[in-house]
Amino acid sequence: EALAQEVLRLKRERNAVILAHSYQLPEVQEVADFVGDSLGLAREAQRTRAEVIVFCGVHFMAETAAILNPEKTVLLPDLEAGCSLADSLRPEDVLAWKAKHPDGIVVAYVNTKAEVKALADVCVTSANAVEVVSRLPQDRPIYFVPDMFLGAHVARVTGRRLDLFPGECHVHAGIREEHLKALLEAHPGAEFLIHPECGCGSGCLYLKPDAKMLSTEGMVRYAKGAEAREFVVATEVGILHRLKKEAPEKAFFPVKPDAVCEYMKRITLEKVYLSLKEMRHVVRVPEEVARRARRALEAMVAVG
Ligand code: MLT
Repeated sequence: EALAQEVLRLKRERNAVILAHSYQLPEVQEVADFVGDSLGLAREAQRTRAEVIVFCGVHFMAETAAILNPEKTVLLPDLEAGCSLADSLRPEDVLAWKAKHPDGIVVAYVNTKAEVKALADVCVTSANAVEVVSRLPQDRPIYFVPDMFLGAHVARVTGRRLDLFPGECHVHAGIREEHLKALLEAHPGAEFLIHPECGCGSGCLYLKPDAKMLSTEGMVRYAKGAEAREFVVATEVGILHRLKKEAPEKAFFPVKPDAVCEYMKRITLEKVYLSLKEMRHVVRVPEEVARRARRALEAMVAVG
């Protein structure tokens, strides 16, 4: 409590805004001015009038905020808050594909490093990937990087052929069919909300053909509006705090209660406090990289 008060006091003093991803710890979400998914956070970072953005999320998200806002100071409370998915893809991998497909289009999931975004034609998040890809020209090869489960979902829904990089989020990839069956049987009236990064992917759909494949923001919106009272949820468990807060009269059951992203959880309230107190750690992207990545990111925030 006292620490949260201190954070809010320092935030005013610094003219800062706190942006938190939906996978953050509950106490971090509670001090944030805005809690959302990558797309919402990128838009919020663009919109804010604060001079300082404390980014409670992982490194590529803070980089995205810095790229979209070169004139603002973006702080990441812990530089070890990385992303194994973003780290799995090197710029050389994209260059190698481009060399083979000179007329190709590179679609980079926002979970990538700035150097990869600089090589991409357009970035997407899980909330708008289907819409962005469905608008691309029909006659050119498309490379979708780096999440293969999300890529397969987008290919299935849009009917487009996509070259996929074999990357995965270790937390979502670990959510598999065997975690599901018993839970769906125990809650026959529940709706099933599944994140497209999940390892069971569209393979789970046979267990529940009316499952909804949604981004976290899509899950929150859907759960609030749906008639159902119970939901089985397949994604990182940080989202449960938001779901329970925004739809308090409904019940949510995580498919895998230990689907926890240890990188997201590196951001503690204490570190948010220290970040504001000591103005650390500033995330900067070299202007040459930022300039090229900005095009792809601006194309992303415009859709969905
Ligand atoms: C994101 O876009 O922030 C992640 O994919 C999680 C989500 O679906 O919101």
